[in-house]
Amino acid sequence: VKNATAPAPPRREEKSNESYDAFAYAYDRALGERFFQAVRSVVDDVLDRYPADQKTHLDVACGTGMVVNHFTTMHGYQSIGVDASVPMLGIARDRARNLVAGDYRALPFRRTFSRITCLYDSLNHVRDRIELTRAFHSIQRVMTPDSLFLFDMNHPDIYPEVWGSKAPFVATGADYHLEMATSYRKRDNVAKALVTGWAKLPRGKVAIHELHQQRAFSEREIVECLDAAHLKPIEVLDFDPYDESNTLGAEGVKLFFVCRTV
Ligand SMILES: C[S@@+](CC[C@H](N)C(=O)[O-])C[C@H]1O[C@@H](n2cnc3c(N)ncnc32)[C@H](O)[C@@H]1O
Repeated sequence: VKNATAPAPPRREEKSNESYDAFAYAYDRALGERFFQAVRSVVDDVLDRYPADQKTHLDVACGTGMVVNHFTTMHGYQSIGVDASVPMLGIARDRARNLVAGDYRALPFRRTFSRITCLYDSLNHVRDRIELTRAFHSIQRVMTPDSLFLFDMNHPDIYPEVWGSKAPFVATGADYHLEMATSYRKRDNVAKALVTGWAKLPRGKVAIHELHQQRAFSEREIVECLDAAHLKPIEVLDFDPYDESNTLGAEGVKLFFVCRTV
């Protein structure tokens, strides 16, 4: 059969999920900055409590580079960011020098890092447990026994509660407008966000139209995938970045993991 071994074209969701095209700019302004302000104290606290001998850092799914910049300027680390989205890396370039395009399921490094982060539910972008385990395994391969891996994932309760809500998320700034219409399908734990709007970029006003997908995981599933990848949580913290837990009917908002290799 002609081309029998050619890979199938990526599904639309798969492609857009990792592209963050015109959305990259609006993401940075409307979401990334706000999340970073909330997560930095949690990260700083872990760094203080577990001082590193070697100051090398990798930010997996670095997005627009805020965490790379933070490790470099505030903590004196030699920091590298890796992300699958070229537009996100394009924005990160204003904040960070060491950036690499790559997929966290197969990281393009042959070295290790003493501290690794993967923040803002970036690991919820995988499709299933197999992909989550692949990502963990790929991260485990760039760790030594002294390395720590810090990441957050969404608490599964927030998917029916927040992503399942009929009201879209809307954010507007002087140079962007963003609307995210979300849905959640309990049957397979898949959440979708249709992101629309516009951003004023140097090349002009660009329309945003992307479909993003996430997969909800329970804490137990995450720990099982970590275990399959030879990683062990030494801490699992409840993380509520915007103090929403009282208003949401959810047991938790985010789970923040600190892991070592085993
Ligand atoms: C919600 S953003 C978070 C970005 C950044 N960590 C932050 O805190 O602002 C999710 C990021 O994950 C990246 N991403 C999604 N799937 C990826 C994959 N398979 N490999 C690498 N990056 C991925 C996206 O391109 C996007 O930049």
